[in-house]
Amino acid sequence: MPPIRNTPPDGGLVPRPRVFEYCPDSYHPKLPFDISADPPFAAEAAWAAEALSAAFTLPVVVVEDRRAAIRVRYVADLEPEGYRLALRPSGARIAASSSAGAFYGLQTLRALALIWEGRIPCCIIEDAPRFGWRGFMLDTVRNFFEPAFIKRLIDLAALHKLNRFHWHLTDDQGWRLPIPGRPELVQNSARKVDRRYVPPLERTLYYDEDAIQDILAHAAQRHVTVIPEIEMPGHVLALLSSHPEFSCIGSRFEPEDRFGIYADVLCAGNDDVFMFLEEVMDEVVRLFPGLYVHFGGDEVPTERWALCPRCRKRMADEGLPDAAALQGWFTRQAAGILRRRGRRPVGWDEIVQSATPKDAIVMAWRSAERGREAAEAGHDVVMCPGSRACYLDHKHRDVPDEPGHLGVSTVKDSYLFDPLENLSENQKSRILGMQGNLWTEIMYFGRHVEYMAFPRLSALAETAWTPGELRSFDGFSARLRWWGKALDSLDVARYRGPLE
Ligand code: ACM
Ligand code: ZN
Repeated sequence: MPPIRNTPPDGGLVPRPRVFEYCPDSYHPKLPFDISADPPFAAEAAWAAEALSAAFTLPVVVVEDRRAAIRVRYVADLEPEGYRLALRPSGARIAASSSAGAFYGLQTLRALALIWEGRIPCCIIEDAPRFGWRGFMLDTVRNFFEPAFIKRLIDLAALHKLNRFHWHLTDDQGWRLPIPGRPELVQNSARKVDRRYVPPLERTLYYDEDAIQDILAHAAQRHVTVIPEIEMPGHVLALLSSHPEFSCIGSRFEPEDRFGIYADVLCAGNDDVFMFLEEVMDEVVRLFPGLYVHFGGDEVPTERWALCPRCRKRMADEGLPDAAALQGWFTRQAAGILRRRGRRPVGWDEIVQSATPKDAIVMAWRSAERGREAAEAGHDVVMCPGSRACYLDHKHRDVPDEPGHLGVSTVKDSYLFDPLENLSENQKSRILGMQGNLWTEIMYFGRHVEYMAFPRLSALAETAWTPGELRSFDGFSARLRWWGKALDSLDVARYRGPLE
Protein backbone atom coordinates (compact mmCIF):
# COMPACT_ATOMS: atom_id res chain seq x y z
CA MET A 1 0.00 0.00 0.00
CA PRO A 2 1.29 3.51 -0.69
CA PRO A 3 2.46 5.50 2.32
CA ILE A 4 -0.02 7.92 3.83
CA ARG A 5 0.92 11.54 3.24
CA ASN A 6 0.30 14.63 5.36
CA THR A 7 0.67 12.74 8.59
CA PRO A 8 -0.07 14.74 11.73
CA PRO A 9 2.27 14.73 14.72
CA ASP A 10 1.93 11.59 16.85
CA GLY A 11 -0.78 10.07 14.70
CA GLY A 12 -3.22 12.77 15.82
CA LEU A 13 -3.56 11.07 19.20
CA VAL A 14 -4.78 12.75 22.37
CA PRO A 15 -3.34 12.29 24.91
CA ARG A 16 0.07 12.38 23.25
CA PRO A 17 1.93 9.09 23.77
CA ARG A 18 5.45 9.12 25.25
CA VAL A 19 7.01 7.69 22.09
CA PHE A 20 5.40 7.69 18.67
CA GLU A 21 7.24 6.78 15.47
CA TYR A 22 5.76 6.38 12.04
CA CYS A 23 6.89 3.36 10.04
CA PRO A 24 6.56 2.85 6.30
CA ASP A 25 3.29 1.50 4.96
CA SER A 26 -0.17 1.37 6.48
CA TYR A 27 -2.55 -1.06 8.14
CA HIS A 28 -6.00 -1.88 6.86
CA PRO A 29 -7.84 -4.83 8.43
CA LYS A 30 -9.02 -7.74 6.31
CA LEU A 31 -11.36 -10.60 7.13
CA PRO A 32 -11.07 -12.64 9.20
CA PHE A 33 -10.42 -9.79 11.58
CA ASP A 34 -9.48 -11.43 14.85
CA ILE A 35 -7.98 -10.68 18.23
CA SER A 36 -6.18 -12.95 20.65
CA ALA A 37 -4.95 -12.06 24.12
CA ASP A 38 -2.99 -13.79 26.84
CA PRO A 39 -5.35 -15.14 29.56
CA PRO A 40 -4.98 -12.20 31.99
CA PHE A 41 -6.35 -9.90 29.29
CA ALA A 42 -9.45 -11.87 28.26
CA ALA A 43 -11.83 -9.17 29.52
CA GLU A 44 -9.94 -6.48 27.60
CA ALA A 45 -10.07 -8.57 24.42
CA ALA A 46 -13.84 -8.97 24.83
CA TRP A 47 -14.24 -5.20 25.23
CA ALA A 48 -11.95 -4.58 22.26
CA ALA A 49 -13.82 -6.95 19.96
CA GLU A 50 -16.86 -4.73 20.35
CA ALA A 51 -15.09 -1.39 20.34
CA LEU A 52 -12.85 -2.23 17.37
CA SER A 53 -15.75 -3.66 15.36
CA ALA A 54 -17.45 -0.30 15.70
CA ALA A 55 -14.29 1.73 15.03
CA PHE A 56 -13.21 -0.26 11.94
CA THR A 57 -16.81 -1.05 10.90
CA LEU A 58 -15.78 -4.65 10.48
CA PRO A 59 -16.70 -7.58 12.73
CA VAL A 60 -13.93 -8.65 15.08
CA VAL A 61 -13.84 -12.10 16.67
CA VAL A 62 -11.88 -13.26 19.71
CA VAL A 63 -9.75 -16.33 18.96
CA GLU A 64 -6.97 -18.34 20.57
CA ASP A 65 -4.34 -17.97 17.91
CA ARG A 66 -1.07 -16.15 18.29
CA ARG A 67 -1.19 -15.18 14.64
CA ALA A 68 -4.40 -13.17 15.05
CA ALA A 69 -4.50 -9.73 13.43
CA ILE A 70 -4.49 -8.11 16.87
CA ARG A 71 -2.42 -9.84 19.48
CA VAL A 72 -2.13 -8.73 23.13
CA ARG A 73 0.71 -10.21 25.09
CA TYR A 74 1.61 -10.20 28.77
CA VAL A 75 5.15 -9.00 29.51
CA ALA A 76 6.57 -8.36 32.96
CA ASP A 77 8.74 -5.35 32.27
CA LEU A 78 6.28 -2.52 31.59
CA GLU A 79 4.95 0.12 33.97
CA PRO A 80 1.49 -0.42 35.43
CA GLU A 81 -1.01 1.07 32.94
CA GLY A 82 1.77 1.28 30.33
CA TYR A 83 1.81 -0.50 26.98
CA ARG A 84 3.76 -0.97 23.77
CA LEU A 85 1.97 -1.04 20.43
CA ALA A 86 3.50 -1.96 17.08
CA LEU A 87 1.23 -1.56 14.08
CA ARG A 88 2.49 -3.24 10.91
CA PRO A 89 0.76 -4.05 7.62
CA SER A 90 0.10 -7.54 9.05
CA GLY A 91 -1.61 -6.29 12.21
CA ALA A 92 -1.17 -4.94 15.73
CA ARG A 93 1.07 -6.29 18.46
CA ILE A 94 0.35 -4.95 21.93
CA ALA A 95 2.33 -5.73 25.08
CA ALA A 96 1.39 -4.84 28.65
CA SER A 97 2.15 -5.92 32.20
CA SER A 98 -1.31 -5.12 33.56
CA SER A 99 -4.87 -5.37 32.34
CA ALA A 100 -5.12 -1.56 32.45
CA GLY A 101 -2.07 -1.36 30.18
CA ALA A 102 -3.60 -3.88 27.76
CA PHE A 103 -6.78 -1.82 27.79
CA TYR A 104 -4.92 1.41 26.99
CA GLY A 105 -3.01 -0.26 24.15
CA LEU A 106 -6.29 -1.43 22.65
CA GLN A 107 -7.87 1.96 23.32
CA THR A 108 -5.05 3.61 21.34
CA LEU A 109 -5.70 1.24 18.46
CA ARG A 110 -9.39 2.15 18.62
CA ALA A 111 -8.51 5.85 18.66
CA LEU A 112 -6.24 5.46 15.61
CA ALA A 113 -9.02 3.63 13.77
CA LEU A 114 -11.46 6.44 14.58
CA ILE A 115 -9.03 9.16 13.49
CA TRP A 116 -7.90 7.39 10.33
CA GLU A 117 -11.21 5.85 9.40
CA GLY A 118 -9.87 2.36 9.18
CA ARG A 119 -6.60 2.78 7.27
CA ILE A 120 -3.89 3.66 9.73
CA PRO A 121 -0.26 4.56 9.10
CA CYS A 122 2.04 1.95 10.58
CA CYS A 123 3.69 3.07 13.79
CA ILE A 124 5.40 2.11 17.01
CA ILE A 125 4.15 3.50 20.31
CA GLU A 126 5.45 3.28 23.86
CA ASP A 127 3.28 4.81 26.48
CA ALA A 128 2.48 5.12 30.19
CA PRO A 129 0.64 7.72 32.26
CA ARG A 130 2.02 10.60 34.24
CA PHE A 131 -0.62 10.50 37.05
CA GLY A 132 -2.68 7.72 38.58
CA TRP A 133 -5.76 9.94 39.13
CA ARG A 134 -7.11 11.15 35.81
CA GLY A 135 -10.67 12.14 36.40
CA PHE A 136 -13.86 13.87 35.58
CA MET A 137 -16.79 14.82 37.79
CA LEU A 138 -20.41 14.87 36.66
CA ASP A 139 -23.05 16.65 38.72
CA THR A 140 -26.19 14.54 38.26
CA VAL A 141 -28.14 16.61 40.80
CA ARG A 142 -28.60 20.07 39.32
CA ASN A 143 -29.78 18.25 36.27
CA PHE A 144 -30.46 14.56 35.98
CA PHE A 145 -28.80 12.52 33.26
CA GLU A 146 -30.01 9.19 32.02
CA PRO A 147 -27.80 6.17 32.77
CA ALA A 148 -27.23 5.72 29.01
CA PHE A 149 -25.66 9.18 28.84
CA ILE A 150 -23.49 8.55 31.89
CA LYS A 151 -22.21 5.38 30.21
CA ARG A 152 -21.49 7.29 27.03
CA LEU A 153 -19.55 9.93 28.96
CA ILE A 154 -17.55 7.24 30.76
CA ASP A 155 -16.73 5.70 27.39
CA LEU A 156 -15.59 9.06 25.98
CA ALA A 157 -13.52 9.66 29.10
CA ALA A 158 -11.89 6.23 28.78
CA LEU A 159 -11.08 7.02 25.14
CA HIS A 160 -9.00 9.86 26.63
CA LYS A 161 -7.47 7.38 29.10
CA LEU A 162 -9.22 8.96 32.08
CA ASN A 163 -9.75 6.50 34.91
CA ARG A 164 -11.82 8.20 37.65
CA PHE A 165 -15.51 9.11 37.48
CA HIS A 166 -16.50 11.30 40.40
CA TRP A 167 -20.28 11.02 40.59
CA HIS A 168 -21.99 13.92 42.38
CA LEU A 169 -25.21 12.33 43.70
CA THR A 170 -26.67 14.69 46.31
CA ASP A 171 -26.98 18.46 46.69
CA ASP A 172 -29.48 21.22 47.50
CA GLN A 173 -31.47 20.45 44.38
CA GLY A 174 -31.84 16.70 44.74
CA TRP A 175 -30.96 13.39 46.37
CA ARG A 176 -30.50 10.77 43.69
CA LEU A 177 -29.43 7.67 45.63
CA PRO A 178 -32.13 5.40 47.11
CA ILE A 179 -31.40 4.31 50.69
CA PRO A 180 -33.11 1.11 51.95
CA GLY A 181 -35.87 1.85 54.43
CA ARG A 182 -35.88 5.54 53.48
CA PRO A 183 -38.26 5.76 50.50
CA GLU A 184 -39.02 9.39 51.33
CA LEU A 185 -35.61 10.41 50.05
CA VAL A 186 -36.21 9.56 46.43
CA GLN A 187 -39.94 10.31 46.66
CA ASN A 188 -39.56 13.85 47.98
CA SER A 189 -36.03 14.76 47.24
CA ALA A 190 -35.15 13.30 43.82
CA ARG A 191 -37.05 16.03 42.10
CA LYS A 192 -36.78 16.98 38.49
CA VAL A 193 -33.84 19.02 37.33
CA ASP A 194 -34.16 22.75 37.11
CA ARG A 195 -37.94 23.12 37.11
CA ARG A 196 -37.72 26.70 35.92
CA TYR A 197 -36.51 25.63 32.50
CA VAL A 198 -37.17 21.96 31.91
CA PRO A 199 -40.74 20.70 31.74
CA PRO A 200 -41.51 18.48 34.72
CA LEU A 201 -41.46 14.75 34.07
CA GLU A 202 -43.89 12.30 35.56
CA ARG A 203 -41.35 10.31 37.43
CA THR A 204 -38.88 11.19 40.14
CA LEU A 205 -35.33 10.93 38.99
CA TYR A 206 -32.80 8.84 40.79
CA TYR A 207 -30.42 5.97 40.11
CA ASP A 208 -31.81 2.65 41.25
CA GLU A 209 -29.61 -0.31 42.04
CA ASP A 210 -29.91 -1.80 38.54
CA ALA A 211 -28.86 1.47 36.95
CA ILE A 212 -25.93 1.84 39.33
CA GLN A 213 -24.75 -1.74 38.78
CA ASP A 214 -25.00 -1.27 35.04
CA ILE A 215 -22.96 1.93 35.18
CA LEU A 216 -20.39 0.36 37.52
CA ALA A 217 -19.94 -2.66 35.23
CA HIS A 218 -19.55 -0.36 32.22
CA ALA A 219 -16.97 1.71 34.10
CA ALA A 220 -15.07 -1.33 35.39
CA GLN A 221 -14.79 -2.76 31.89
CA ARG A 222 -13.12 0.52 30.90
CA HIS A 223 -10.81 0.59 33.93
CA VAL A 224 -12.67 3.55 35.40
CA THR A 225 -13.11 3.70 39.17
CA VAL A 226 -16.33 5.37 40.32
CA ILE A 227 -16.14 7.75 43.29
CA PRO A 228 -19.65 8.47 44.65
CA GLU A 229 -20.14 11.80 46.41
CA ILE A 230 -22.63 12.34 49.23
CA GLU A 231 -22.50 16.00 50.24
CA MET A 232 -22.37 16.99 53.93
CA PRO A 233 -22.83 18.99 56.08
CA GLY A 234 -23.81 21.73 53.59
CA HIS A 235 -25.62 21.51 50.24
CA VAL A 236 -28.34 19.39 51.85
CA LEU A 237 -31.63 21.21 51.23
CA ALA A 238 -33.04 18.26 49.27
CA LEU A 239 -32.28 15.95 52.19
CA LEU A 240 -33.80 18.46 54.63
CA SER A 241 -37.00 18.53 52.55
CA SER A 242 -37.50 14.91 53.67
CA HIS A 243 -35.89 15.30 57.09
CA PRO A 244 -36.31 18.82 58.47
CA GLU A 245 -35.39 17.41 61.88
CA PHE A 246 -31.80 17.06 60.64
CA SER A 247 -31.52 20.86 60.41
CA CYS A 248 -30.86 23.18 63.33
CA ILE A 249 -34.15 25.04 62.97
CA GLY A 250 -36.59 22.29 61.90
CA SER A 251 -38.70 24.37 59.51
CA ARG A 252 -40.05 23.21 56.15
CA PHE A 253 -37.66 22.82 53.24
CA GLU A 254 -37.99 22.28 49.53
CA PRO A 255 -35.40 20.98 47.12
CA GLU A 256 -33.92 24.16 45.74
CA ASP A 257 -34.29 25.32 42.13
CA ARG A 258 -31.77 28.08 42.26
CA PHE A 259 -28.16 27.38 42.98
CA GLY A 260 -26.05 28.97 45.62
CA ILE A 261 -24.94 28.49 49.19
CA TYR A 262 -27.72 28.11 51.75
CA ALA A 263 -27.62 28.69 55.49
CA ASP A 264 -29.36 25.47 56.47
CA VAL A 265 -26.92 22.62 56.93
CA LEU A 266 -26.98 19.38 58.90
CA CYS A 267 -27.22 19.96 62.64
CA ALA A 268 -23.91 18.94 64.16
CA GLY A 269 -25.47 18.52 67.59
CA ASN A 270 -28.05 15.91 66.59
CA ASP A 271 -26.88 12.30 67.02
CA ASP A 272 -29.66 11.13 64.70
CA VAL A 273 -27.88 12.93 61.86
CA PHE A 274 -24.83 10.74 62.36
CA MET A 275 -26.92 7.58 62.67
CA PHE A 276 -28.48 8.51 59.33
CA LEU A 277 -25.08 9.15 57.74
CA GLU A 278 -23.90 5.72 58.96
CA GLU A 279 -26.93 4.17 57.22
CA VAL A 280 -26.25 6.10 54.04
CA MET A 281 -22.62 5.07 53.97
CA ASP A 282 -23.56 1.43 54.62
CA GLU A 283 -25.50 1.57 51.40
CA VAL A 284 -22.81 3.52 49.55
CA VAL A 285 -20.13 0.95 50.37
CA ARG A 286 -22.50 -1.91 49.59
CA LEU A 287 -23.14 -0.49 46.12
CA PHE A 288 -19.80 1.05 45.17
CA PRO A 289 -16.78 -1.23 45.29
CA GLY A 290 -14.10 1.45 44.80
CA LEU A 291 -11.74 2.51 47.56
CA TYR A 292 -12.72 6.18 47.50
CA VAL A 293 -15.88 7.86 48.78
CA HIS A 294 -16.35 11.64 48.60
CA PHE A 295 -18.19 13.32 51.48
CA GLY A 296 -18.25 16.88 50.15
CA GLY A 297 -17.34 19.38 52.85
CA ASP A 298 -17.39 22.53 50.72
CA GLU A 299 -19.25 25.80 51.28
CA VAL A 300 -20.54 25.29 54.81
CA PRO A 301 -22.13 28.36 56.42
CA THR A 302 -21.92 28.02 60.21
CA GLU A 303 -24.43 30.70 61.22
CA ARG A 304 -27.12 28.18 62.25
CA TRP A 305 -24.65 26.21 64.33
CA ALA A 306 -23.58 29.30 66.22
CA LEU A 307 -27.17 29.84 67.45
CA CYS A 308 -28.38 26.22 67.78
CA PRO A 309 -28.62 24.93 71.37
CA ARG A 310 -27.71 21.37 70.34
CA CYS A 311 -24.73 22.53 68.29
CA ARG A 312 -23.60 24.76 71.18
CA LYS A 313 -23.86 21.80 73.53
CA ARG A 314 -21.74 19.75 71.12
CA MET A 315 -19.12 22.49 71.09
CA ALA A 316 -19.08 22.59 74.89
CA ASP A 317 -18.95 18.79 75.22
CA GLU A 318 -16.14 18.45 72.68
CA GLY A 319 -14.19 21.50 73.89
CA LEU A 320 -14.57 23.29 70.56
CA PRO A 321 -14.05 27.07 70.74
CA ASP A 322 -16.34 28.11 67.88
CA ALA A 323 -18.49 27.06 64.92
CA ALA A 324 -15.46 26.78 62.64
CA ALA A 325 -14.00 24.20 64.99
CA LEU A 326 -17.36 22.41 64.91
CA GLN A 327 -17.04 22.17 61.14
CA GLY A 328 -13.71 20.44 61.67
CA TRP A 329 -15.31 18.11 64.16
CA PHE A 330 -18.06 17.26 61.66
CA THR A 331 -15.49 16.57 58.98
CA ARG A 332 -13.63 14.20 61.27
CA GLN A 333 -16.87 12.32 62.00
CA ALA A 334 -17.58 11.98 58.28
CA ALA A 335 -14.06 10.76 57.56
CA GLY A 336 -14.33 8.31 60.47
CA ILE A 337 -17.60 6.84 59.16
CA LEU A 338 -15.82 6.03 55.91
CA ARG A 339 -12.60 4.86 57.48
CA ARG A 340 -14.49 2.39 59.70
CA ARG A 341 -15.89 0.91 56.52
CA GLY A 342 -12.43 0.50 55.02
CA ARG A 343 -12.80 3.37 52.58
CA ARG A 344 -10.55 6.31 51.83
CA PRO A 345 -12.38 9.60 52.42
CA VAL A 346 -12.22 12.36 49.83
CA GLY A 347 -13.35 15.94 50.45
CA TRP A 348 -13.24 19.42 48.92
CA ASP A 349 -10.38 21.66 49.98
CA GLU A 350 -12.29 23.30 52.87
CA ILE A 351 -11.49 20.16 54.89
CA VAL A 352 -7.83 21.14 55.14
CA GLN A 353 -8.64 23.85 57.71
CA SER A 354 -10.36 21.40 60.01
CA ALA A 355 -7.61 19.11 61.27
CA THR A 356 -9.03 16.36 59.08
CA PRO A 357 -7.03 13.14 59.32
CA LYS A 358 -4.23 13.16 56.78
CA ASP A 359 -5.43 10.04 54.99
CA ALA A 360 -8.33 12.07 53.55
CA ILE A 361 -7.71 13.02 49.94
CA VAL A 362 -8.25 16.71 49.20
CA MET A 363 -9.79 17.99 46.00
CA ALA A 364 -8.40 21.46 45.39
CA TRP A 365 -11.28 23.30 43.73
CA ARG A 366 -10.92 26.92 44.84
CA SER A 367 -7.35 27.35 43.61
CA ALA A 368 -4.16 25.44 42.94
CA GLU A 369 -2.76 27.30 45.96
CA ARG A 370 -5.31 25.44 48.14
CA GLY A 371 -3.93 22.25 46.67
CA ARG A 372 -0.43 23.35 47.56
CA GLU A 373 -1.51 24.06 51.14
CA ALA A 374 -3.20 20.66 51.38
CA ALA A 375 -0.08 18.90 50.09
CA GLU A 376 2.05 20.88 52.53
CA ALA A 377 -0.28 19.81 55.34
CA GLY A 378 0.35 16.19 54.37
CA HIS A 379 -2.77 15.30 52.35
CA ASP A 380 -2.80 13.56 49.02
CA VAL A 381 -4.33 15.98 46.53
CA VAL A 382 -6.37 15.90 43.35
CA MET A 383 -6.08 19.20 41.50
CA CYS A 384 -9.25 20.61 39.90
CA PRO A 385 -9.09 24.37 40.47
CA GLY A 386 -11.95 26.32 38.96
CA SER A 387 -9.62 29.30 38.79
CA ARG A 388 -7.38 27.30 36.42
CA ALA A 389 -9.86 26.07 33.86
CA CYS A 390 -10.75 22.71 35.42
CA TYR A 391 -14.37 23.88 35.80
CA LEU A 392 -15.98 22.98 32.52
CA ASP A 393 -19.18 24.94 33.18
CA HIS A 394 -17.36 28.18 32.33
CA LYS A 395 -17.78 29.69 28.87
CA HIS A 396 -15.37 28.57 26.17
CA ARG A 397 -14.96 32.17 25.09
CA ASP A 398 -16.03 35.61 26.12
CA VAL A 399 -18.89 36.31 23.75
CA PRO A 400 -22.48 36.96 24.86
CA ASP A 401 -24.18 33.99 23.25
CA GLU A 402 -21.63 31.38 24.31
CA PRO A 403 -23.14 28.89 26.82
CA GLY A 404 -21.57 28.81 30.25
CA HIS A 405 -21.31 30.81 33.44
CA LEU A 406 -19.06 31.96 36.29
CA GLY A 407 -16.16 32.80 34.03
CA VAL A 408 -14.37 32.04 30.81
CA SER A 409 -11.97 29.12 30.42
CA THR A 410 -10.59 28.62 26.96
CA VAL A 411 -9.31 25.29 25.70
CA LYS A 412 -5.86 26.83 25.92
CA ASP A 413 -6.45 27.81 29.56
CA SER A 414 -7.40 24.22 30.30
CA TYR A 415 -4.33 22.98 28.48
CA LEU A 416 -1.89 25.33 30.19
CA PHE A 417 -2.78 24.43 33.76
CA ASP A 418 -0.14 22.12 35.16
CA PRO A 419 -0.95 20.58 38.55
CA LEU A 420 2.72 20.46 39.55
CA GLU A 421 3.63 24.08 38.85
CA ASN A 422 5.12 26.08 41.72
CA LEU A 423 5.34 23.05 44.00
CA SER A 424 8.29 21.76 46.00
CA GLU A 425 9.46 18.19 45.37
CA ASN A 426 7.80 17.12 48.59
CA GLN A 427 4.51 18.77 47.64
CA LYS A 428 4.67 17.26 44.15
CA SER A 429 4.91 13.80 45.64
CA ARG A 430 1.45 14.38 47.16
CA ILE A 431 -0.33 15.22 43.90
CA LEU A 432 -2.29 12.14 42.84
CA GLY A 433 -3.48 13.80 39.67
CA MET A 434 -6.24 16.02 38.41
CA GLN A 435 -9.75 16.16 37.06
CA GLY A 436 -12.22 18.30 35.14
CA ASN A 437 -15.53 19.10 36.84
CA LEU A 438 -18.87 19.26 35.07
CA TRP A 439 -21.30 21.18 37.27
CA THR A 440 -24.58 21.09 35.46
CA GLU A 441 -26.67 24.02 36.71
CA ILE A 442 -27.05 25.19 33.14
CA MET A 443 -26.44 21.93 31.29
CA TYR A 444 -29.89 20.48 30.77
CA PHE A 445 -29.14 17.60 28.43
CA GLY A 446 -26.28 15.26 27.68
CA ARG A 447 -25.38 17.07 24.51
CA HIS A 448 -24.92 20.28 26.49
CA VAL A 449 -22.51 18.39 28.70
CA GLU A 450 -20.57 17.13 25.69
CA TYR A 451 -20.28 20.66 24.30
CA MET A 452 -18.91 21.97 27.60
CA ALA A 453 -16.61 18.98 28.14
CA PHE A 454 -14.94 18.63 24.76
CA PRO A 455 -12.31 19.46 23.88
CA ARG A 456 -11.41 21.03 27.24
CA LEU A 457 -11.54 17.63 28.92
CA SER A 458 -9.31 16.35 26.11
CA ALA A 459 -6.80 19.04 27.08
CA LEU A 460 -6.95 18.12 30.78
CA ALA A 461 -6.66 14.43 29.90
CA GLU A 462 -3.43 15.10 28.06
CA THR A 463 -2.00 16.95 31.05
CA ALA A 464 -2.99 14.06 33.30
CA TRP A 465 -1.47 11.42 31.02
CA THR A 466 1.47 12.95 29.17
CA PRO A 467 4.73 13.96 30.89
CA GLY A 468 5.14 17.72 31.20
CA GLU A 469 8.18 17.90 28.92
CA LEU A 470 6.22 16.37 26.03
CA ARG A 471 3.33 18.79 26.26
CA SER A 472 2.95 21.91 24.16
CA PHE A 473 -0.17 23.80 23.28
CA ASP A 474 0.93 24.10 19.63
CA GLY A 475 1.39 20.34 19.39
CA PHE A 476 -1.95 19.75 21.07
CA SER A 477 -3.81 22.11 18.76
CA ALA A 478 -2.20 20.50 15.68
CA ARG A 479 -3.29 17.06 16.87
CA LEU A 480 -6.72 18.32 17.86
CA ARG A 481 -7.60 18.85 14.19
CA TRP A 482 -7.24 15.08 13.81
CA TRP A 483 -8.51 14.11 17.22
CA GLY A 484 -11.66 16.06 16.38
CA LYS A 485 -12.32 13.44 13.69
CA ALA A 486 -12.26 10.71 16.31
CA LEU A 487 -14.78 12.70 18.36
CA ASP A 488 -16.88 13.38 15.26
CA SER A 489 -17.03 9.73 14.35
CA LEU A 490 -18.54 9.14 17.80
CA ASP A 491 -20.98 12.01 17.21
CA VAL A 492 -19.65 14.08 20.12
CA ALA A 493 -21.35 17.50 20.28
CA ARG A 494 -18.00 19.20 20.74
CA TYR A 495 -17.21 22.91 20.82
CA ARG A 496 -15.53 23.93 17.54
CA GLY A 497 -14.70 27.61 18.06
CA PRO A 498 -11.38 29.36 18.74
CA LEU A 499 -9.12 27.60 21.24
CA GLU A 500 -7.80 30.79 22.86
C1 ACM B 1 -17.51 23.35 44.57
O1 ACM B 1 -17.42 23.74 43.41
N1 ACM B 1 -18.29 23.98 45.43
C2 ACM B 1 -16.76 22.21 45.04
ZN1 ZN C 1 -27.66 22.39 65.29
